[in-house]
Amino acid sequence: MKKLSLTSTVEVYSSIEELSDQDAELLAQAKKAIDNAYAPYSKFKVGAALRLANGEVFLGNNQENAAYPLCLCAERVALFYAASKHPDVPVKALAISAKSGSKPLTDPVTPCGSCRQTIFESEFRNQTPIRLIMQGETGDIYCMNSIREILPLTFTADFL
Ligand code: THU
Repeated sequence: MKKLSLTSTVEVYSSIEELSDQDAELLAQAKKAIDNAYAPYSKFKVGAALRLANGEVFLGNNQENAAYPLCLCAERVALFYAASKHPDVPVKALAISAKSGSKPLTDPVTPCGSCRQTIFESEFRNQTPIRLIMQGETGDIYCMNSIREILPLTFTADFL
């Protein structure tokens, strides 16, 4: 038996001022998108903003349902919205932020497992890595240059 060690690289910034203008702008848009979330059940509002290779920005937020499994995350709303309008334009960056109804969020919000796989599908489909920018309401900001950093041993269409 041998062991495989997996490593990931995450850039950690302590304030928005440390970010590039492009990353800071996209994070600001994700924070604005939080306001339109529909989260009456969890009271956990998530905002996402993505920038396409053509410069257009698309927003998304979580959309919940009384039938809980139907809830859709902010990241997937933004990705599907953008892909439905521009199926062939790569996504270059995606910012995520959130507000909890029960406590101050001081840790960066990272995408759920389903969203990680969906973000990867976008990278694979367009053969373009997506830069991720993540923050809670306040606190450190995590950035990474591909979802692969937090989705190791990825299941891809190459297996099919
Ligand atoms: N949620 C997102 O929108 N994105 C994530 O990456 C994690 C969770 C939403 C789904 C649900 O509406 C609420 O947050 C609580 O899980």
